[in-house]
Amino acid sequence: MSRLIIVSNRVAPISEGGPAAGGLAVGVYDALKETGGMWFGWSGEVLSSGQPQIQLEERGPVTFATIGLLRRDYDQYYRGFSNATLWPAFHYRADLVQYDRNEYAGYCRVNAWLAQQLVPLLRDDDVIWVHDYHLIPFAEALRAAGVKNRIGFFLHIPFPASQVLLAVPPHRELVQALCSFDLLGFQTKPDVRAFCDYIVNEAGGTVEKRADGLTQIEAFGKTLCANDYPIGVYPDEVAELAKAGERDKPVRTLKATLHGRKVIMSVDRLDYSKGLVERFRAFERLLEHTPSQRNKVSFVQIAPPTRADLHAYQDIRLRLEAESGRINGRFAELDWTPIWYIHRQYERAVLAALFRASHVGYVTPLRDGMNLVAKEYVSAQDPENPGVLVLSRFAGAAQELGGALIVNPLDIDGMADALGKALSMPLAERLARYNDMMVQLRENNVSVWRDRFMRDLTSMAAQVGVSLPASVEPAQP
Ligand code: G6P
Repeated sequence: MSRLIIVSNRVAPISEGGPAAGGLAVGVYDALKETGGMWFGWSGEVLSSGQPQIQLEERGPVTFATIGLLRRDYDQYYRGFSNATLWPAFHYRADLVQYDRNEYAGYCRVNAWLAQQLVPLLRDDDVIWVHDYHLIPFAEALRAAGVKNRIGFFLHIPFPASQVLLAVPPHRELVQALCSFDLLGFQTKPDVRAFCDYIVNEAGGTVEKRADGLTQIEAFGKTLCANDYPIGVYPDEVAELAKAGERDKPVRTLKATLHGRKVIMSVDRLDYSKGLVERFRAFERLLEHTPSQRNKVSFVQIAPPTRADLHAYQDIRLRLEAESGRINGRFAELDWTPIWYIHRQYERAVLAALFRASHVGYVTPLRDGMNLVAKEYVSAQDPENPGVLVLSRFAGAAQELGGALIVNPLDIDGMADALGKALSMPLAERLARYNDMMVQLRENNVSVWRDRFMRDLTSMAAQVGVSLPASVEPAQP
């Protein structure tokens, strides 16, 4: 059998106390634990000097191959081009895009260097699956180093509309680099459409729907395929975790402190794409317009720190601290704090238990590739007495979770109305919505996500006439 080689910037498991994991690390680790294979990426270390060396570590069926980054590489490739240029642009925040030509050169240089580090670890029949926006030039770099293996790419974040992507000066080089992969996976159909729109209208390429459902793309002298592969969770495992944690200390403390009040729960990395300020204001609007909710509900926002060395992240932190202080000052009483804003990280099992103990999951990003918190919130619910999910239409998860109350995160009154509706929703409606979403979550769990992508990566190779190593059998569509 051929091995699966995962390549991503951030590698799980993240050590306790480290940065907040995010959807990639959580989803990919779940997918890789079952198949086994190798996971190659950044160790999380930043070295001031020396020659970074690959560390190999076996954990069960997974070999972790990680390497540190030199300070300049971290600054240019990770902090600079990945997180100050691509991240805001791909989340439709052209106003926050910062571009520096040297950082882009560093981004390309680090991609080429990482590819060279991986090459000696590869076998001829490995299938390589590269993840996320840090590694767009990775296939080009591997091909330049003579690698002939199948190489797929999955983008965990949105792919922006062409007019927004044009704000990134090297947009054409980036799209050309993506065309060196054999298969491109996106979270949702709108992301695939946005990519195809660029190919046709900006790159002069062609796109064609094939009989097997994949979109075939011809551009920059390359032929490749694209499709949507919404990432999932293991809903029954999350439910088990949540149930097991019900009697643990964090949940007991939460319940004891609430004295029977209801809870609205949110968990996000403290990122400006998550719509946190708008969310706080919508909760304030609920209290303002519905006095009967005062002292009856608390909103718990867990927002662990992330990318704290970037100005935009320092700024959102300050704004959020100011908003929570202002709103609490306005409404708090001696025995009631309306907003609990917690700037630290909790383990996944604790979060699952907290989700189960809360009445509303409040997930309202301004833009999000998928948002696995939305899927985990639903999975964690008590099947006999589930809570309600309030979900932004701009999270990829909204394409699948029709049982949520779907909101526009810029419509503060609309979100306040949805919170009010969620808090008073009768059991029968909560059950119907929950059961509807659980069917969807079970049908498209994280194994289905991985297997669909791998099946297409191997079978499309056969259809476009590329010879595969004997051990990789194209699966039947
Ligand atoms: C998002 C991205 C991931 C990233 C994660 C955490 O989920 O899609 O690629 O790993 O955020 O961000 P960080 O910068 O800490 O890796």
